[in-house]
Amino acid sequence: MRHPHLPEALSEALIQQLVQTFYARIRQDLILGPIFESRVGHRWDEHLANMVDFWSSVTMMSGRYHGKPHVAHQTLGLTPDHFKRWLALFEACVSEICAGHAAAFFVDRAHRIADSLQIGLNIGPDALHLPARKETSDASA
Ligand code: HEM
Repeated sequence: MRHPHLPEALSEALIQQLVQTFYARIRQDLILGPIFESRVGHRWDEHLANMVDFWSSVTMMSGRYHGKPHVAHQTLGLTPDHFKRWLALFEACVSEICAGHAAAFFVDRAHRIADSLQIGLNIGPDALHLPARKETSDASA
């Protein structure tokens, strides 16, 4: 049962709180933590501010985020299990911090974006398993 006083409306303050709580936990995570430490290093303040902009653009159409998430995740060696863990941690934070409409919206968007990132990386349930290309030395074939 959720606490009855959790916020149900999206707001800048709610996004700030969610981002702070989620990434504090991600940093402690044995699997995901090291991936972030190796890439984000001493730029955590910058990353958190970017993620607040990202979520405010996604959920409140603030238009503040101008990054390229697909590019950022391309060279991290991510697997579907990384995404499952990320989503499980995210959902746990969401259910502690907000309820109702806001909670459902964050979780739904996170899943859609995770699906889209995995499609971009060609991993996960929607990955394309194309047959290997036949090598040919005849360029005109
Ligand atoms: C599967 C586990 C994931 C890992 C290990 C991961 C890791 C990272 C790392 C290390 C960065 C920093 C890149 C940099 O500054 O160079 C980053 C950026 C980012 N991540 Fe993830 N990520 C994961 C999943 C997700 C998901 C599911 C979302 C969205 C729902 C997301 C959204 C973002 C966004 C928006 C950025 C900023 C990209 C930019 O503007 O450059 N990530 N991620």
